[in-house]
Amino acid sequence: MLRVAMTSVSPPHPTVVLGVCGSIAAYKAASVARLLVKAGVRVLPVMTHAATKMLGAATLAGLTGNHVYGEMFEASLGGELHVELAEKATLIAVVPATAEFLSALASGRANDLLRATVLCRRGPVMLAPAMHPNMWSHPATQRNIATLRADGLEFVGPVVGEVASGEVGEGRMAEPEAIAEAILGRLRHDPSQGTHDLAGRHVVVTAGPTIEDIDPARYLSNRSSGKMGYAIATAALARGARVTLITGPVALPAPAGAKVVPIRTARDMESALDAALGTGLTEADALIMAAAVADYRPLSVHPTKLKRHGPTTLELIPNPDLLAGLGKRRTGPKPVLVGFALETTSDDELVAAARVKLDKKQVDLIVANRASDAFDTDHNRIVLVERARAIELPYASKGVLADRLIDHLLPLLP
Ligand code: CTP
Repeated sequence: MLRVAMTSVSPPHPTVVLGVCGSIAAYKAASVARLLVKAGVRVLPVMTHAATKMLGAATLAGLTGNHVYGEMFEASLGGELHVELAEKATLIAVVPATAEFLSALASGRANDLLRATVLCRRGPVMLAPAMHPNMWSHPATQRNIATLRADGLEFVGPVVGEVASGEVGEGRMAEPEAIAEAILGRLRHDPSQGTHDLAGRHVVVTAGPTIEDIDPARYLSNRSSGKMGYAIATAALARGARVTLITGPVALPAPAGAKVVPIRTARDMESALDAALGTGLTEADALIMAAAVADYRPLSVHPTKLKRHGPTTLELIPNPDLLAGLGKRRTGPKPVLVGFALETTSDDELVAAARVKLDKKQVDLIVANRASDAFDTDHNRIVLVERARAIELPYASKGVLADRLIDHLLPLLP
């Protein structure tokens, strides 16, 4: 049985400035506001002029119990409203963010209250874009997204789905539950919220593919980008853990503060794991195996480049199952073992397949995901599968999912 989990934040109650732009999807901002308020967040709404044509300010005022800001200079509230809002917010979320809004932010414009507030901001900003797929995929929008990402702004969605015109494509705003969960996840790991709940813990994370050479020019590997593993390492660091990141070759910057151990083959990864976990496996509190370890390798690596000569057969032998080996060797409570299961099956079979892996590999938790959702994207959909329950997390960025995974891992730590 799958269920959508929505967790709350603990006091002191964080403040979210909820910006709303003028898109048909603006009505969904009301649901996001409601979910945040229910989770214990103080929500301060800011609407653009266009947004007020799509959604009544009275709706947001009623749901949040707060004044809805709109004018740059509201006489009754003083002159520097954008500065005050930017400072007050634990996080600014813009739901929905239109193509025009993204363009304005990317070029640093500040010609209304919401834009000025975001420009003034020196802390987390999360954007939930909504637009027609042609606008989303336009090179100008994609340039703006790249600029905003480089500036440190975070995105939740958009997703592939039906947009207001009835067409289907990437540009539909993420669902309100997914947006609220992304915001709550981000609030939980905000250092100013004091969530150093992994302080004193050693977390080992594996990431990326392994590479198994055939000859000096060719190899066997897979499409893993390493993004999920790197996101987990980053989230664990932000929450105070000491992190060892054992990584196959990927095109990602090393997370600041992690001990990074680059490897190439599955057997390299086995040696790196032995070193990080220690002989009795007592050196780490948790191991998260996000790496896509090659199941097979060529029987031998040909010393010279193989020449073409008609049909040929490549003889493969199995690599050791690293996680199963550790599951078998573990005798005490350390380390908590988390595996990943990437499947191409239906949703029902996904959880069943993950449960088989839980038992076969003797681990504590399997993160199940689908190949169609996972590869080379910044977002994913995952199901956390334990023996007694399976929790489906809403579609979100890998950073947000990493945080939710750690939330889930915490009570399992010895
Ligand atoms: N894994 C591992 N060693 C391997 C293969 C996989 O430690 N040789 C780990 C992966 O890092 C992942 C988990 O096992 O955490 C699941 O990997 P997956 O390839 O999905 O499962 P397999 O056991 O290989 O089963 P199958 O490929 O048949 O689905």
